[in-house]
Amino acid sequence: MENSENNTPVEIGAFFDDKASTYDDHQKENIANFGYRHMNVAGAIEETSRELRILDLGCGTGIELEMILDRASNARITCIDISGGMLEELRRKYADALKQLEVIQGSFLDIPFGEENYEYVVSVLAMHHFTYPLKLNLYQRVRKALRAGGMYLEGDYYLPPEEEGQHLAEYQQLLNTGTITPDIGYHIDIPFSIARQREVLLEAGFLKVEVIYEGANAAVFSAC
Ligand SMILES: C[S@@+](CC[C@H](N)C(=O)[O-])C[C@H]1O[C@@H](n2cnc3c(N)ncnc32)[C@H](O)[C@@H]1O
Repeated sequence: MENSENNTPVEIGAFFDDKASTYDDHQKENIANFGYRHMNVAGAIEETSRELRILDLGCGTGIELEMILDRASNARITCIDISGGMLEELRRKYADALKQLEVIQGSFLDIPFGEENYEYVVSVLAMHHFTYPLKLNLYQRVRKALRAGGMYLEGDYYLPPEEEGQHLAEYQQLLNTGTITPDIGYHIDIPFSIARQREVLLEAGFLKVEVIYEGANAAVFSAC
């Protein structure tokens, strides 16, 4: 998905508000590996009728929710997203399941997750806009939010190591020129390599980090 016409970075909530009504169609038509990340994230969730507690970071319009509810039909899912437009689509699509969903608008970088609250924390396509220090802090909070035996599942873009540096250098250049400020989230892609993603999850305190799916510039991680 493109930024503004003159390529000025757009604040992330505004970006997705603008795309919300066409987001699902765009994803299906244009994204290589569409659905595989979502399916592999959902597929790692226990098949059960128990009331699992699940936290979805950057749930968007809820593409992964359908697959998660197929596995755990009675799950209670807390859905966080910064874009009101994306959440409006989610509420419309899941009108019949809203009693199972707690929908929260805000940044997962700020909203408290509590401690030992969830069997699973999941995130699909939402983490490739953040730097190492922000991800480290977030993953430390995710680890604390998991119950004993719980698991973090993340499906996203990841790049070969040589391309990772390029994106980061461009991001740094935007900071240096004052085009962006570090305290605001922008729709700028700075995906990690698989090795760096593993590193940040391990540094956050996860003991077992695995790649459970790998495709073209795509992967799904499990961490527990
Ligand atoms: C590419 S969409 C993915 C949506 C959905 N998970 C999917 O796979 O279709 C990324 C979502 O992450 C949300 N997002 C990005 N940064 C966020 C933040 N700091 N807090 C909450 N949501 C955020 C965006 O608003 C957007 O809805």
